[in-house]
Amino acid sequence: AYKVVDHEYDVVVVGAGGAGLRAVVGMAAAGLSVACVSKVFPTRSHTVAAQGGISAALGNISEDDWRWHMFDTVKGSDWLGDQDAIEYMCKHAMEAVVELEHYGVPFSRTEDGKIYQRPFGGMTTEYGKGKMAVRTCAASDKTGHAILHTLYQQALKYKVKFFVEYFAIDLIMSANNSACHGVVAWSLCDGTLHRFRAHAVVLATGGYGRVYFSATSAHTCTGDGGGMAARAGLPMEDMEFVQFHPTGIYGSGCLMTEGCRGEGGYLLNSEGERFMERYAPKARDLASRDVVSRAITMEIREGRGVGPKKDHVFLSIAHLDPGVIKERLPGISETAKTFAGVDVTKDPIPVLPTVHYNMGGVPTNYHGEVLLSEKGKIVAGLFAIGEAACVSVHGANRLGSNSLLDLVVFGRAAALRAKEIIKPGASHAPIEESLVDAIVDRFDKLRFSRGGPGLPRSMVWNSDLVEALELANMLPQAVITMDCAANRTESRGAHAREDFPERDDENWMKHTMAWYDSKTT
Ligand code: SIN
Repeated sequence: AYKVVDHEYDVVVVGAGGAGLRAVVGMAAAGLSVACVSKVFPTRSHTVAAQGGISAALGNISEDDWRWHMFDTVKGSDWLGDQDAIEYMCKHAMEAVVELEHYGVPFSRTEDGKIYQRPFGGMTTEYGKGKMAVRTCAASDKTGHAILHTLYQQALKYKVKFFVEYFAIDLIMSANNSACHGVVAWSLCDGTLHRFRAHAVVLATGGYGRVYFSATSAHTCTGDGGGMAARAGLPMEDMEFVQFHPTGIYGSGCLMTEGCRGEGGYLLNSEGERFMERYAPKARDLASRDVVSRAITMEIREGRGVGPKKDHVFLSIAHLDPGVIKERLPGISETAKTFAGVDVTKDPIPVLPTVHYNMGGVPTNYHGEVLLSEKGKIVAGLFAIGEAACVSVHGANRLGSNSLLDLVVFGRAAALRAKEIIKPGASHAPIEESLVDAIVDRFDKLRFSRGGPGLPRSMVWNSDLVEALELANMLPQAVITMDCAANRTESRGAHAREDFPERDDENWMKHTMAWYDSKTT
């Protein structure tokens, strides 16, 4: 018996990272009333941790073209990415970056004042003839931080209502999942429950990297949107594709940006060999992440790892001009000092492939609308964007710096679609009370699961309860990931199997759709 506080908005965006905030800005600018519900303060969202940059074929440093960007992204996805969506993203990349600059993102500069770009893995020109493109637009090694803060400042210009430190518990779905009517959230600060009615709910809740023991993801990355969707009985797409970033710091998993290799850094084994020359003679240390991560794993397996246990390798940037390190890589210098005790200007950094990104997620079309089935039918009033979603621009493997691009391009796309389909201020259909009661019941069960009815757990800043909710969100996604990985009997992109080491285009050039069945797990 809780009092549930009611709210009505045109749109509720769950999550305030790059995708969520870009959607918020677009929707508010279109005159829609917008609530943004976030379990952390917006500028603490995980976009803040993205270091190396955002890809766009600006051609500021090398000749480039969005078609080459598209080609690389399709190839990098190990041919699984949705080519219409990739075309949409790459075509809109330049305007997305220019828009960010106009919003105020402090991009680094070339000597002649243009936006600074650095090479990243798998980025070529001349249709894969092996010439490296210089395509990743950077704000030093704090690009995500700069974008997130700028988007938040933009959002503050509008009448957006932020519900900060509110944990979204469950979606309010119609009985047959054909429509979403809103979301129920719990205020961590005062313990109250809230029902948000909206013409559209946008899931912008990020990935579920914390399913793994070691990840570059923040502890908040528990895939809360995916958990809500899976629990509601909605499908998940391509969940077997989980990216390992080649260079997480050994022991802590903290990210050493691909920008280290983009600026000229390289990997070394225990024999001091630049081993990537053997695995990828053209791209070398800037091969795509799946290739580099597998190469590191092979070196370790074959006994050429470093350290007492020979279980990691070195990333060296000590040979770079100290001025470049100071200007372009100041953040990772500090992180390496703190988490590995290494002065990067003198010593190599101990690194290991570390879980970094979920290519899979809630299936959507390229307007961000959630799909109810592989046949393309949509769930009315439900969007998913960013890492929570699978529009499949990344296929089986994402290219570095395509994720910040994905956030802003599809955040904007969702806002454009919402503008088309929602009439500002239109009245809301009534919601059956029993739907909300069922959500509150589930919440209650979690709340009382340890304390018992005689010992209710506090509703105010109950971090145990937050963890129980997060675990309940991660579990279905972990189960689906394992099932999908077992099901796909080939190796493709980030999905590598020893029992099926080859790509099998004849049988597996297709996406996976999976549903969570709580009864069988
Ligand atoms: C990095 O800077 O290496 C991470 C950025 C990304 O994953 O796109």
